[in-house]
Amino acid sequence: MKNKTVFFCQNCGYESSKWMGQCPSCKEWNTMVEEVVKPQARNTRTGLGAATAPDKGRHTQIVPKSLKDIELTKEDRADTHIGELNRVLGGGLVKGSLTLVGGDPGIGKSTLLLQAARNMSEDGHSILYISGEESLQQIKIRANRVGEFTDDLKFLCETNLDIIEEVITRVNPEVVIIDSIQTMFSENVSAAPGSVSQVREATAILLRIAKSMNISTFIVGHVTKEGTVAGPRVLEHMVDTVLYFEGDRQASYRVLRAVKNRFGSTNEIGVFEMRESGLAEVKNPSEFMLDGRPEDASGSIVTCSVEGTRPILIEIQALVCRTNFGFPKRQANGTDYNRVNLLMAVLEKRVGLQMSDCDAYVNLAGGMKLQEPALDLGICLAIISSFRNRPISPDVIAFGEVGLSGEVRSVSMTQQRVMEAKKLGFKTIILPKAFESKLKDIEGLTIIGVKSVQDAMRIF
Ligand code: TYD
Ligand code: MG
Repeated sequence: MKNKTVFFCQNCGYESSKWMGQCPSCKEWNTMVEEVVKPQARNTRTGLGAATAPDKGRHTQIVPKSLKDIELTKEDRADTHIGELNRVLGGGLVKGSLTLVGGDPGIGKSTLLLQAARNMSEDGHSILYISGEESLQQIKIRANRVGEFTDDLKFLCETNLDIIEEVITRVNPEVVIIDSIQTMFSENVSAAPGSVSQVREATAILLRIAKSMNISTFIVGHVTKEGTVAGPRVLEHMVDTVLYFEGDRQASYRVLRAVKNRFGSTNEIGVFEMRESGLAEVKNPSEFMLDGRPEDASGSIVTCSVEGTRPILIEIQALVCRTNFGFPKRQANGTDYNRVNLLMAVLEKRVGLQMSDCDAYVNLAGGMKLQEPALDLGICLAIISSFRNRPISPDVIAFGEVGLSGEVRSVSMTQQRVMEAKKLGFKTIILPKAFESKLKDIEGLTIIGVKSVQDAMRIF
């Protein structure tokens, strides 16, 4: 059989027989690359005619089960002793699960997994850390920064998956860490390491090992903006859990976010800070994010966003000033640009602010990226405060979704947001009207329920 070439999208793994400038699946440009695939002997027994195949009757011992015949065993979870990581995993590492940890190069994926491996090995779990990126000496240098290690944690530098499979079978560890999937290759695939077909094949092999030997496996995947390596999105559908590690290179803190989790809730986040001696947990992100707030400055207000199950307070800053050019400039950092534009349109039309000749900048202080609609009211008030040059009292927080008629709509988990604000010493809370009566009686808090943005402007 002849070797065949196909085109893969490096971003999402879409496969096509011809080259295209734009991937029809994820709509990214210039991501299609050519790869050679070896033809496989086709399994012809699938499809409607399968039952008439000559070996009919060979699988009579395979019987489908009804739900009551399926026994449930409690998931066995290992404690990583990193609270933020446990939370994102849904309460610890599930035995036999396959977890993808994606993120930009240099963000701290290897450091996080090394620390988790160290903690689990101290509990007596046997762990194999396989690196295709660093030499054993380099790993040791990193390990020295992070702390003491026990003998249950073993390291291996290898990229050939056939050898890796042999070693895993021989050593039989409880946890395997693969750093990174883009460096691994299988001899069955002719394409280069990091190509879509190689990354897929490698993951399929690791999946088979993880499930057949019941080994919890972490796979590191680099996110690449462009270039010749397939990104982690290509294998998201194959693994149980997908975590992304994100953050500004300049800022010291990092956010670990679950975008898919078969054993827990998604959108859960863990916050870390990169220190000299590895990653430290940030147990109270609100406090961390509000550190260094300006006092009595116009255009600043605190709002509350819920990430997963956790409320996080964050300062929204807006700067509205007369434009020096014919065309006003709008900019949003850390939140959705289009949402900010929409809210400004609502303020023009419903509140009557004339901002068509103004530049506007909206920023989530601290560099965190949040998108929740509950931020809307905070964004509106920050913009109004800057436009009118009237500061908002620093002990006020506001949250609620703003609709196109300027109405303030209710959001989920109001009580948790209010309690988080109280914990950090806020006194006045502006929230959707529907919740006012329910929360009115909390001691030490002034609750202001509002129906619309105009209504909320009472605080000025
Ligand atoms: P690393 O875990 O190697 O990133 P990744 O595996 O995602 O590519 O982290 C690399 C960065 O973290 C590097 O710039 C150095 C920094 N770092 C610290 O600041 N403190 C530390 O204790 C360690 C181990 C790394
Ligand atoms: Mg690394």
